[in-house]
Parts: sequence; C-alpha cells; structure tokens
Amino acid sequence: MSVPIFGNWLQVGNDLTHRFLASMSKLYGDVFLLKLGSRSLVVVSDPKLATEVLHTQGVEFGSRPRNVVFDIFTGNGQDMVFTVYGDHWRKMRRIMTLPFFTNKVVQQYKNMWEEEMDLVVEDLHKREEVKTEGIVIRKRLQLMLYNIMYRMMFATKFESAEDPLFLQATKFNSERSRLAQSFEYNYAIETTLWSMEWAIAELVNHPNVQSKVRQEISEVLQGNPITESDLNRLPYLQAVVKETLRLHTPIPLLVPHMNLEEAKLGGHTIPQGSKVVVNAWWLANNPEWWKNPDEFRPERFLDEEAETEAVAGGKVDFRFLPFGVGRRSCPGIILALPILGLIVGKLVTDFEMRPPAGMEKVDVTEKGGQFSLHIATHSVVTFHPIKA
Ligand code: HEM
Repeated sequence: MSVPIFGNWLQVGNDLTHRFLASMSKLYGDVFLLKLGSRSLVVVSDPKLATEVLHTQGVEFGSRPRNVVFDIFTGNGQDMVFTVYGDHWRKMRRIMTLPFFTNKVVQQYKNMWEEEMDLVVEDLHKREEVKTEGIVIRKRLQLMLYNIMYRMMFATKFESAEDPLFLQATKFNSERSRLAQSFEYNYAIETTLWSMEWAIAELVNHPNVQSKVRQEISEVLQGNPITESDLNRLPYLQAVVKETLRLHTPIPLLVPHMNLEEAKLGGHTIPQGSKVVVNAWWLANNPEWWKNPDEFRPERFLDEEAETEAVAGGKVDFRFLPFGVGRRSCPGIILALPILGLIVGKLVTDFEMRPPAGMEKVDVTEKGGQFSLHIATHSVVTFHPIKA
C-alpha cells in the first residue's frame, strides 16, 4: 500500500503550517505524502508512527534533508537560516554535544545564569514605568539569553541592548560573519526566547496560575532566592513550563528528518530521500488524546498527565515531544528547561505581571511558519513589585 498522494505543494506554499497539516491529517490519515516532482514530504501525525520515525527506526529516519530539499520550504527569510547553513547545523551536534550539552555544564554555569537573570529583575525594579505604562520584555530577555550563551561560548557579554555588536549578533539574516557563524545559537536562543514570551503571556492571562507558582515558590523556598537546584522541588513551576511548550510548541513540526533508503512506515512505502516531518504540535494538542487541549492548564501535568515528561528518561510519551526524542532530538533541552523554569520563577517571585491598565488580557495570537511557532504580538506587560 502506498501513501496517499495529493496535490502539488507549490499550491499550498507557505501555508504548510502545523494547523494546516493537522487538518490535512484528518482527511488523508496519520501519515500522508505530498509530492513535488521527485521530491516528497511525509507528514506524521500519530504518536505511534512518531515513535517509529524518531525511535524504533531512528537510524533509518535519522538524516536531515539536504539543502536542495530545504529550498522548497524556505519561503520567508527566517527559514533561510536552515537553507544556507544546513550542513553546519548538522555538524553542530557532533562538535558541541560533549563540551556543551552535559549536566556538568549546567553545574558549571548555573550561577552565571542566575546572575544574568537577577540583572533583569534588578532592571525592572529600577524602572518606574514598568508599573504604569508597562514594557515589552522581549528585548531585555533577548539580551539576557545572548549574554548567557556568549558567556558560555566566548566568555564575553554585551553591555546593553544598544551595543552595536549585540545588534549585529541578533540580526538573523546578517552576512556570515565570524560571530554569526554561531547563528544556530541565534536560532536556539530565539526558540528559548519565544517560549519565555509565551510563558509570560499565559501567566499574565491566567493570574490564578501565576499566584499558584508564587505560592509554591514561597512555601518551598521560604524566602530564599530560587536556584537551579530548587527546580525539582517546584513541580507546579515545571508544569507551567511544560504546558507552555505543549500549547505553544516552539518548533511545531520538529526539524525535518530524512530517510536515506526507501523505508516502511505504518504499512506505507516511504520513498528514499523523503523529507519527514512529525507534527509535534498536533500530537500535543489533539483532543482525542488530551483533555481540553486548547486550555492553558498546567494542572494537567500534575493530575491526569502526571507521568508525561518532556524528555526521554522517565516515561517517554510520544504525544509530548517539544524537543523531539532519539538521536536527532534537541541536545539543548538540558539548558533550555532550567533556564525557562528559572526566569519564570524569578519574575513571578518579584513581580505580579499584568496586562496594561484597562486591558483584560494580552494577545496570544500565534504566528506560525515551517520551523517556528511564535507569539504574533510582543505585548506590553506591567510589572508590579511584590511586597516582601
Ligand atoms: C525551548 C527551547 C528549545 C526547543 C523547544 C528546541 C527544540 C528542538 C527541536 C524540536 C529539535 C529537532 C528535533 C528533531 O528533529 O527530532 C531541536 C534540535 C536542535 N536543538 Fe533545540 N530547542 C530549544 C533550545 C535549544 C538550545 C538552547 C540549544 C543550544 C544551546 C539547542 C540546540 C539544538 C541543536 C544543536 C539541534 C540539532 C540536533 C540534531 O540535529 O542532531 N536547542 N531543538
């Protein structure tokens, strides 16, 4: 049996987003194939088949499409990153895993992370207008994340968001300069930054969740500042991070995989060299598998989903794969999860985050692309210091 084939993906062009592909899976099944000439895109929308691609047949589907195949997908500038530097991206893991993505590195740098985060909190305390007009926090968090990464990689940092070198470094499509060669980190940093923006927006829109986080921290830490080693004692905070990544999966289709040889998947024949995407967003938001998936409800990860982890180690749950799983999974998870937990914890400890006066909620409309799912509007948020 072959995979149902339909259409020509030029017709759908840039609309090949997680939502569109999810709606197509309802028509064409858990695995379907789109064809353009000799090139194929296979879309996987079922946890069992995702297990096959990422784990059971992880070797068979463990390649990344070559640049030429990537071309098809790159409609807008942001995605060009992958086109131009695809090979470089592939090398990253080999080169970086040992020195960079280990728990030892977390232990080595966690104090520095906390220091950079405390500077953000300090800045917010100093600025009177954060209480009244509010601010768009994105720029400041971006500076923080670049500083965290640059201190880890180059033992250097940027003084301010106006630093010309910072402006240069944050330019996505800048010419390939020496520093910009580390553009994968730009991507990794931006991914983490989107997650922070989503988490903050959801906390602003769910004040009850925000106060539960604050209460947990205050009960567990008794007024001591939150550190990386406290995170495992703060299950609700961790649930907030997971729920953010579930509802707003930052890389909703994972990074495309490829099979070098013809392969079998769910009884279908997958032509050699297909680009295979796993709709991780849909796996985590399909109402067949999740209770009211549209709802931002961190409690689900303490109640009915208590066993679900973002990472292999505990029970691997193929409905929840914000970092992928298996040999091509995200090695940055070891940094991203604690960094997310810490910044959310620190902001919530010191501030009540609210929409600007007169507004009920901030806008959480999403903007999706092939490789990213980010918040469409960088909303203004007000920060009200918590009285000790
Ligand atoms: C919330 C933050 C992040 C999310 C949601 C995320 C998600 C992902 C996903 C879904 C993949 C592809 C998995 C697959 O294709 O099966 C990936 C790959 C990758 N990520 Fe992340 N990531 C994040 C942060 C980071 C950070 C902070 C770094 C580095 C400092 C990083 C480095 C990488 C690398 C090097 C790869 C390529 C792995 C490979 O192809 O073998 N990521 N990430």
